[in-house]
Amino acid sequence: MRKSIRPPQTIGILGGGQLGRMLALKAREMGYQIVTLDPTPQSPCGQVADKQIVSDYNSLSGAGQLAACSDVVTYEFENISADLALELESHSYLPQGYQLLYTTQNRLREKVAIQQAGIAVAPYRQVLNSQELLRAVEELGLPVVLKTAEGGYDGKGQFVLKTSMQLDQALAIVQDITQQWVVEKFIPFAKELSVIVARNIAGEIEAFPVGENIHQQNILHLTLVPARVDEILAKRAQEIAIQLAQKFSLVGLLAVELFLTQDGDLLVNELAPRPHNSGHYTRQACETCQFEQHIRAICNLPLAKPKILHPTIMVNVLGKHLPEVTAAVSGWDSDWKLHVYGKAEGKPLRKMGHVNILTDNMDKTLVAIRKTGIWEMEGIE
Ligand SMILES: Nc1ncnc2c1ncn2[C@@H]1O[C@H](COP(=O)(O)OP(=O)(O)O)[C@@H](O)[C@H]1O
Ligand SMILES: [Mg+2]
Repeated sequence: MRKSIRPPQTIGILGGGQLGRMLALKAREMGYQIVTLDPTPQSPCGQVADKQIVSDYNSLSGAGQLAACSDVVTYEFENISADLALELESHSYLPQGYQLLYTTQNRLREKVAIQQAGIAVAPYRQVLNSQELLRAVEELGLPVVLKTAEGGYDGKGQFVLKTSMQLDQALAIVQDITQQWVVEKFIPFAKELSVIVARNIAGEIEAFPVGENIHQQNILHLTLVPARVDEILAKRAQEIAIQLAQKFSLVGLLAVELFLTQDGDLLVNELAPRPHNSGHYTRQACETCQFEQHIRAICNLPLAKPKILHPTIMVNVLGKHLPEVTAAVSGWDSDWKLHVYGKAEGKPLRKMGHVNILTDNMDKTLVAIRKTGIWEMEGIE
């Protein structure tokens, strides 16, 4: 069995965003040294790491430098090339491997893998041109969601097609031959849920409590934990995540986004083989947070039982919210825990931080969030 990575050995993190930062903060607390790679100097992770290599994500020499000074390498950034992963796998220790990353980089490969693991997804078709889009819509029926197979996040590269006029407009979009597309049936979900599951090299598996996610403009807005669903359903969601972790021989974390349909079925929407925004609640709500669990998994330490200590609502702070949030924070109750990522540039829809709110009453806390006047809370109950 592979030996453990122990403090003060060095963890290399490919990508210097907020996920890397929160990983690094936790890893430092545990006594590890951190080196990160990111093109932007003083990146959110670089600010708290021992060292930052300033390099493009896909530079082989940058990856080589990261490998040379790391005892174990992990990533917080998903769109790395096969060449780069090969470089990391051959010159460093990358226990997560490249296979699952490769699978989840492409929505079509991801959906096939989920189905092969015996788990349901929304009906979908691959689309390469306008004829295929027309045929797919004929088979699936409107409304549908058209998504780029690769590179999309926070709703980027996505179009909801409800009318035949919108379909006509989309016909031109899919003629772009540099893109592969997936079209899937629009699911009028009752709720969106997510489960973060961890598996270590020794094969231990642990799933975090189920989160209930509310998106705005396709960007995560709120995560409520525990999700307001019955226990049997929550258990089913966790079992789906565990089944995927087993089938994929996961090492590290896997975030599983799900739709709960009006009929009570669970469909997997998408996967992320890394810490996830919908798991930020774990920093306050759980005895062990997602970042510690990820470090435990890749360093081959025993996994923690992710016990929930306190119901929590996580609210994302985007660029458009940050000035008001920082102005208001001095008036907030101490149960409202603000986390800010240290990003230099605050574009309106960029994730800049989050607030974890410990709560004994979700309804009252939702009203309190609304009363701040900072976030749009229309229709949220
Ligand atoms: N088939 C679908 N039916 C209904 N809503 C969808 C569908 N696909 C995506 N959405 C909505 O858009 C959000 C973002 O889509 P997702 O596929 O998770 O892409 P990403 O998070 O990578 O941008 C989802 O969380 C959900 O709210
Ligand atoms: Mg998503």
